Amino acid sequence: MSASLSLAILVLLGHLMATSEANFNQHFDVTWGHHRSQIKDGGQLLTLSLEKDSGAGFQFKNQYLFGRIDMQIKLVAGNSAGTVTTFYLSSQGSNHDEIDFEFLGNSSGNPYTLHTNVFSQGKGNREQFLVDNIPIRVFTNMKSQGVPFPSKQPMSIHSSLWNADEWATQGGRVKADWTNAPFVASYKNFKVEACIWKPASASSTCSPGARQTQGLDAAGRNRIRWVQSKYMIYNYCSDLKRFPQGVPYECKQSRFL
Ligand SMILES: *[C@@H]1O[C@H](CO)[C@@H](O)[C@H](O)[C@H]1NC(C)=O
Repeated sequence: MSASLSLAILVLLGHLMATSEANFNQHFDVTWGHHRSQIKDGGQLLTLSLEKDSGAGFQFKNQYLFGRIDMQIKLVAGNSAGTVTTFYLSSQGSNHDEIDFEFLGNSSGNPYTLHTNVFSQGKGNREQFLVDNIPIRVFTNMKSQGVPFPSKQPMSIHSSLWNADEWATQGGRVKADWTNAPFVASYKNFKVEACIWKPASASSTCSPGARQTQGLDAAGRNRIRWVQSKYMIYNYCSDLKRFPQGVPYECKQSRFL
C-alpha cells in the first residue's frame, strides 16, 4: 500500500475538547526497539522499522479521557506478509479498556486485513473507528446495563510494528521475507482533540472549544453499511459457533458492530 491511511478513534461524551497537534520530539516516548525508531522532519514524521530480531513501539506521553484522535499511517509497502502495524488506546490495570486497530500485512498485491477490537469495562457513549474519515465500526453505549463511563480510566495512545508471522498472514502460512527487511511504517499528522488526564489531581483538563456530540448521521450510516457489506470478513456478532448460548449483549444493541 503506497498511499497513507488516516485513522481516527472517537470516544465522545459531548465534552469540551482541547486541540493540539503533536510534535514527535516532545509528545512521544519510544517504548521498545529504540534503535528501530527515527524522528524526522523536525518532529513531524516518525518511522518504525522491523527486522527479524525486533520491531518497535511508541507511546504518547499524555493520557486522555474523551476525545478524537487522528493519525496518518503509511503501512509497510510491497510484501508486508508477517508484519503487524498497530494503533491503539489502552488504560492500565486488570479491568482495562482498550480500543485497537491492527493492520495485518500481506504478500504483494494482496489486501491488508484490518482487525479492530474493543475491551471495555466501563462503556463509552459511542466509540467510532474511522479510516479515511469513513466510519468502519461503532461501539454503542450500554447504559441500560448500568455500566458507567470510565471517567477514572484514562487511556494512553500506543503504536507499534512487530513480527507476527506465526499467525498474521493467511493464518501464518505466508511468512515474512526477511530479505526485504527492514520493513518500515511511518506516522505523521497526529492530532488530538481531547480531555487530558492530570494524574496529580486525578482530574482532566479540557480547554474551551466546540462542544461536540457526533453521532452517525444518515450519510455516515450509509457509509458504514457499505463498508461492512463490501469489506467486512468477520463479525463476532454473527459468529454463532463462538457463542452457542447467544451473542453478547452489545450485538443486540447496535446495528453497527
Ligand atoms: C491476504 O490476501 C488473501 C488473498 O486475497 C486474503 O484471503 C487474506 O485475508 C489477506 N490478509 C491476510 C492478513 O492474510
